[in-house]
Amino acid sequence: MEEFHKVRRLPPYVFEQVNRLKASARAGGADIIDLGMGNPDLPTPASIVEKLCEAVKDPRTHRYSTSRGIPGLRRAQAAYYERRFGVKLNSETQVVATLGSKEGFANMAQAITAPGDVILCPNPTYPIHAFGFIMSGGVIRSLDVVPDNSFFSALERSVRHSIPKPLALILNYPSNPTSYVATLDFYKDVVAFAKKHHILILSDLAYSEIYFDGTPPPSVLEVPGAIDICVEFTSMSKTFSMPGWRMGFAVGNERLISALTRVKSYLDYGAFTPIQVAATAALNGDGSEIAEVRSIYKRRRDVLVESFGKAGWDVPPPAATMFAWAPIPEQFKHLGSLEFSKLLVEKADVAVAPGVGFGEHGDEHVRIALVENEHRIRQAARNIKRFFAAAGNGGGDNVVSLSARR
Ligand SMILES: Cc1ncc(COP(=O)(O)O)c(C=O)c1O
Repeated sequence: MEEFHKVRRLPPYVFEQVNRLKASARAGGADIIDLGMGNPDLPTPASIVEKLCEAVKDPRTHRYSTSRGIPGLRRAQAAYYERRFGVKLNSETQVVATLGSKEGFANMAQAITAPGDVILCPNPTYPIHAFGFIMSGGVIRSLDVVPDNSFFSALERSVRHSIPKPLALILNYPSNPTSYVATLDFYKDVVAFAKKHHILILSDLAYSEIYFDGTPPPSVLEVPGAIDICVEFTSMSKTFSMPGWRMGFAVGNERLISALTRVKSYLDYGAFTPIQVAATAALNGDGSEIAEVRSIYKRRRDVLVESFGKAGWDVPPPAATMFAWAPIPEQFKHLGSLEFSKLLVEKADVAVAPGVGFGEHGDEHVRIALVENEHRIRQAARNIKRFFAAAGNGGGDNVVSLSARR
């Protein structure tokens, strides 16, 4: 029987192949160090959990909530934008709470896309950026993700050669998976370009607070007039270690926010009210918990770069996000990222995410997530060192993963 139209457009998750190997290695007793999925391992701060418990005892919170978010939560998000970015938002018309930023992004795509609309999307990138639009009938045109001049020449070429003209441009800095960070000057130029060509901008700022080198990543909405064409997504998942709570936001242009709010009003009743109450308290906090999370990821980053370097794998230190974007060592490059990732599970008991899972241009890298503690990261480096030694100097040519042989 033929697959459904939409399902046919969703290829099997590449990461699933590594996950399957991981599961079978674990079933065989292996201690796999899992640096694959970007699933924060840190507990949600106790004060936020307590707020949830307190709120859940009030039966009034058990009813359907509000799809767009309770007013206090939207006000807290607006206050965060003003405090952090100097951006003033109207919490009634320019802020909507979402069930995690992934849901918000996908439903924004659904709200604004007509069949055949062209979307400019970085490659490699977090999969929902492309597939949110593909599920909505859009057509993706890939863009270089490096925020420099090559980005602008690719952008110009894309606009010149797209028919119809692109509807929207997706930005994601700090980037998952590459961890590249954009400057405010970059955003100024992108906004000017997008305005000139009547292109909307959707910016994913999920890693707004996970940065390491003292410079907080800017928001595209800091550019004067950006709100005429931009909407931006943020997430509580990484900032407050709340991935399972499903809480995020879209803010910015009223027309875009209203389109998303309308679609959501047909689909959901909002997050459980106690979650919204606890999220409000988190956003209104003094920021000390965020600083703690940041410093834990920073220490892990430093350990990763140092210990993997000693193992013979030079990993560029990411300036932000909870990921390192690591070039596949030269002797294994010919394998591609999926086969190399499988080998790491089988021979080093280490799981990483193959770069190709984020798009074809990611195939020379793997993404290493900082989601195990420092001790485990060092252990991963030791395992990898042993595997590299066994594979021999430049002897990667004859190394094939067991699953490839089958
Ligand atoms: C760039 C990016 N956007 C969005 C998300 C999804 O976040 P949320 O948990 O808010 O849906 C992630 C999660 O890994 C991400 O890396």
